[in-house]
Amino acid sequence: MRKWLIGMKSKKIIFDEYYRETHGQRWINLRSALEKEKQMQVLKSADGTQAYYLDQASLIAAANLEVGRGQKVLDLCAAPGGKSLYWLLKPELGSIQWKANEISMKRRLRLKRVLDQFLDREVRKRVEVVGHDARNWCLYEENAYDRILLDAPCSSEGHLIQQNQIASWSLAKVKRNMANQWAMLCSALAVLKSGGILVYSTCSINPGENEEQIERFLQSRSGQFEVLQGQSPIGKKLRWGWEIFPDIAIGAGPLYFCVMRKN
Ligand SMILES: C[S@@+](CC[C@H](N)C(=O)[O-])C[C@H]1O[C@@H](n2cnc3c(N)ncnc32)[C@H](O)[C@@H]1O
Repeated sequence: MRKWLIGMKSKKIIFDEYYRETHGQRWINLRSALEKEKQMQVLKSADGTQAYYLDQASLIAAANLEVGRGQKVLDLCAAPGGKSLYWLLKPELGSIQWKANEISMKRRLRLKRVLDQFLDREVRKRVEVVGHDARNWCLYEENAYDRILLDAPCSSEGHLIQQNQIASWSLAKVKRNMANQWAMLCSALAVLKSGGILVYSTCSINPGENEEQIERFLQSRSGQFEVLQGQSPIGKKLRWGWEIFPDIAIGAGPLYFCVMRKN
């Protein structure tokens, strides 16, 4: 038992040391902001009877997808479905075609439940829920969607802190997340139509999963896409994307997003 406790403590120390090195002076404030409960925004179901709670930062990232009438949209990592709901609850989008993908069967069932409960029947009919690996999507389709949302699986440090699960964090997992995000980005770019828009987002506070990932992507795919400004009323504009972290964004986030257009 004692040995186990020592193991837990050392993992917490490694976690703190790693992020203190990454964020410098800012880490103390950022860490305590991550511990606090967030204020959530509400999305009302189409019939007005149900409420879906979503962080303001997630709504901002979703809004940057700028979906238009009749467009073909792919949400590559969709469950539980908050960011898809943001758009699908807008009646003005008309005959939109929406594909919501989620690899985990359990989470896919939750996603379907959310869509069934929150959407108008006609809109629900236009949403296809599928369960593929986002990393391989480009093997089956290319130049197919006007808009792609890649809300990638990530280190989710905020959740780990709040759920007291820092012991499950490791550098090996960070590296695995980065490799998966990279594969998903490459796949998403191939699947996007020319002129189409891709929003990449994570809820990680690790620059390696965020801005540095985009920097590497730009270097390896130069000329194939451009990074757009993106917009957010809160948070901080970085060179490529936006950082909406709770210490600087009235408690919202953490969330990083970057908006790209395929050339
Ligand atoms: C950050 S969550 C998505 C949250 C969602 N966009 C929302 O707003 O409610 C990332 C999701 O990606 C899923 N995922 C992980 N690996 C995947 C893969 N290779 N292909 C597709 N989905 C994956 C996870 O199961 C998880 O549900």
